[in-house]
Amino acid sequence: MNIQIINGPNLNLLGVREKSIYGDASFETYFATLQQRYPEHTFSYFQSNKEGELIDKLHNVGFTADGIIINAGAYTHTSIAIADAIAAIATPVIEVHISNVYKRETFRHQSMLAASCRGVIVGFGMDSYRLALENFINT
Ligand code: DQA
Repeated sequence: MNIQIINGPNLNLLGVREKSIYGDASFETYFATLQQRYPEHTFSYFQSNKEGELIDKLHNVGFTADGIIINAGAYTHTSIAIADAIAAIATPVIEVHISNVYKRETFRHQSMLAASCRGVIVGFGMDSYRLALENFINT
């Protein structure tokens, strides 16, 4: 399968940022372990801090990739535009979060994106991405 992973704002700082919440591994390190674990599948990784770039990426891969895993960071809680982009494309999308957003501030409890996604995986650390991937592989 051809799977696109998209990370939104501040997720370029994984491994540096608030380690007690997000852990001490960079996404690049984690991404390499995913590739090694599933050599028969092709993964691509894109990160941006800009809402429009995330939307452009969804448009660009959303009619060719087999699955998209998105962690839109704080845009999850605010972005109707990203929700509309997910609804507009053909490729199924799974929303993921590293932290358990339901144990955190109430403004993190709402997702603008979830209703347009196949499902949501929350709170398993970096393993949230692998769990989403397993769904694409096994579905
Ligand atoms: C996050 C949770 C969001 O609330 C936060 O803004 C992030 C990361 C997570 O993966 O736990 O940037 O999406």
